[in-house]
Amino acid sequence: MKKTENRNNPFSDRLISWYQINKRDLPWRNTTDPYVIWLSEIILQQTRVNQGMDYFLRIIRQFPDVASLASAKEDEILKFWQGLGYYSRARNLHTAAKMIVRDYNGKMPTDYSSLLKLKGIGEYTAAAIASFSQNSPHPVVDGNVFRFLSRYFGIAEYIDTSKGKKVFTEIAENLMDKERAGIFNQAIMEFGALQCVPGQPDCTVCPFSDSCTALLENKVTCYPVKQNKIKLQNRYFHYFHIVYGTKTYIKKRVGQDIWRNLYEFPMIETKESMSFDELRHEEDFKDMFGNEKDMVFKQRIVDKKHVLTHRILHANFYEVQMKHESEALKNFVCVEDKELDSFAVHRLMEVYLKLTLD
Ligand code: ADE
Repeated sequence: MKKTENRNNPFSDRLISWYQINKRDLPWRNTTDPYVIWLSEIILQQTRVNQGMDYFLRIIRQFPDVASLASAKEDEILKFWQGLGYYSRARNLHTAAKMIVRDYNGKMPTDYSSLLKLKGIGEYTAAAIASFSQNSPHPVVDGNVFRFLSRYFGIAEYIDTSKGKKVFTEIAENLMDKERAGIFNQAIMEFGALQCVPGQPDCTVCPFSDSCTALLENKVTCYPVKQNKIKLQNRYFHYFHIVYGTKTYIKKRVGQDIWRNLYEFPMIETKESMSFDELRHEEDFKDMFGNEKDMVFKQRIVDKKHVLTHRILHANFYEVQMKHESEALKNFVCVEDKELDSFAVHRLMEVYLKLTLD
């Protein structure tokens, strides 16, 4: 493995020079306010800069500091988050903001170990906040960093294992110019995001092309290496948009899954894909709609797929004309159709509402 030193550090110098010329001007880079950095990092965890930017600007305008976020209602935060996905990020931000008010008088901590104790902040985010706000020498290792380092050093270690994470974190730590930890971290991530991109990067303009192991061995596309143990699970959801005069029924999703606390129509989940004729013989369907007296079902969306990290969701949506209030729906909230827009809903609901109510 190539060794670099921290003092006279040509690797870090080369990287930071590249960064200073090529970096994007992003709002969270012109600040050392740990709250602003935290919010941006949480948004960018699973989201591209282009998509995350508007959300960041809207959320920071509405919740400019820890106190305003902590005192907000979770429903309001989820509404601001709607469309970004991975909603546990929003719920955890809210919980952590309340922890900061309770334990730190509302002042966001900036040291790595205190940050790690906050809900939703893991090693990556703690390192980002500590280094960008205080220049603390903790390396950030995200997908961009894995890709760049695995190619540059030709390391075939799995990146999606704890051992792999440890190996790459150690390398990043050795490479880091400790005096310039913040800018080094920004630079290494930006390099992976803009230059050492997935697929076929343009290595002819790369400042590391003279010493990149993968390039010299003609193996750029072989890195990084993943173990890929994730097995995708299929889930089948059948949603019912009940038309009861000008009203409809919704419910806050409970349980521990990623859409917890978002609103949705009455839904039946089945173990396999089902047509309407199969579905109406299911016990859950009979519990919800009894003998279907005076009801008309019209399928509006057929097998809409939504891919998540571990799952593929298959959704059918039915519009149900209903003449009488139903006892089976008493646990649902009955709302005016035109009010639906004020509730935080998940992606599948959003797709349906756009299609049918615009
Ligand atoms: N992705 C994650 N963190 C980022 C940052 N600070 N700037 C740009 N992209 C990022």
